[in-house]
Amino acid sequence: MPKDLHIRNVPDLVRTKIRREASRLPVSQNTYLLTVLSEAVESQKGPSLFDRISDELTGKDTPSQYNVNYSVPFTFVDLFSGIGGMRLGLEAVGGKCKFSCEVDPYAQKTYLAWFGENPAGDVTKLIDAQDIPPHDILAAGFPCQPFSLAGVSKKNSLGREHGFKDRTQGTLFFHLATIIELHRPPVVLLENVKNLRSHNKGDTWKTILGTLDDLDYEVFSEVIDASAWVPQHRERVLIVCFDRRVFGNSPPFEFPDPPSGPQPQLQEILEEAPDAKYTLTDHLWQYLQDYAERHRKKGNGFGCSVADLDGITRTLSARYYKDGSEVLIPRGEGKNPRRLTPREAGRLMGFPEHLLDKQVVSDTQAYKQFGNAVVPKVVEAVARQIVKVMQWHLVGKNGCLIKKQGRRR
Ligand SMILES: C[S@@+](CC[C@H](N)C(=O)[O-])C[C@H]1O[C@@H](n2cnc3c(N)ncnc32)[C@H](O)[C@@H]1O
Repeated sequence: MPKDLHIRNVPDLVRTKIRREASRLPVSQNTYLLTVLSEAVESQKGPSLFDRISDELTGKDTPSQYNVNYSVPFTFVDLFSGIGGMRLGLEAVGGKCKFSCEVDPYAQKTYLAWFGENPAGDVTKLIDAQDIPPHDILAAGFPCQPFSLAGVSKKNSLGREHGFKDRTQGTLFFHLATIIELHRPPVVLLENVKNLRSHNKGDTWKTILGTLDDLDYEVFSEVIDASAWVPQHRERVLIVCFDRRVFGNSPPFEFPDPPSGPQPQLQEILEEAPDAKYTLTDHLWQYLQDYAERHRKKGNGFGCSVADLDGITRTLSARYYKDGSEVLIPRGEGKNPRRLTPREAGRLMGFPEHLLDKQVVSDTQAYKQFGNAVVPKVVEAVARQIVKVMQWHLVGKNGCLIKKQGRRR
């Protein structure tokens, strides 16, 4: 490999980016460029518009034997970004994030450490068109508290209304709808708890789907269990919407099949020598067992759960930091179990190791962030299917990228 790269006619924008990134790291511009290129080659992220269509893409409604590969260079915005689970999934299939927004200062801190960007704050303040840059996909895991069972019962017990009537959070979906109306992103990707569909006897769900339909989007939804990708039972509803004015009335979208092969096991994500501070005290362990016993007698399944190392865990929740009761790790006969370390909680969600190396918040905040997050691999699998529809749209039915088709509608 030559020591120096001599490239002429580099556009100013690209030159500035190279200079800025190289000095930020800091490495020489040549080293930076070579690293970027090597990574692009290794991960096959380099743009290559006319790759031969892969076997995976043949059949169905795919238009031709040639196609744009997964690197169709789309942009997206990451609203209610949390710690960037959506972002990781979308970047994995070639997406470029143009904007993020997250109100929680601790999640912002993690996001900054992980992606080098400080997300904008409150989404309800983004009211003008120029507040959000143009984008191809709007991604949003909007807050689930007003819709989840735990959220509903908690708010009911406080005598407060929930769902859309909850003034502080339930209306966030309507802000989202306003943003969608203003920007008309070609694709919208939403994520929420499974229970969203049955909340308020199904009225909440109907309202959400009805609103998206009224906005002239073709809507697909599916509950996906992340347990095919990570050793955790985690069911979430994914909603994918295509602008009918762009894709017509029947875009050929299908949710992904879970990957084949053996199911991930809990033991694969455990640390070898976790700190003793994660072991439950005698007092807490006794309390959790008594609590579980009381609930067992009442005939319900609440309480604590010591996980099976060969199997998968229960769903990690945002309250895991309190006592770790939903996912306890056995430590052998006669020993108190322990809770997951923050790194293990991150692995249970499928976040990559190089990001987990950078824990910039307390354990409590880290557990909350992982419990609130989406599994990036699930987003990646769904995003791959979205990209296929974008390819279908770009290439068109005659298999030609350049020559325009007639209107599809
Ligand atoms: C379900 S979590 C989304 C997590 C994200 N998908 C991830 O992978 O980390 C919802 C997020 O919305 C944020 N949020 C709540 N209200 C908000 C608002 N008004 N503006 C911006 N973000 C908000 C919460 O702080 C929380 O991090």
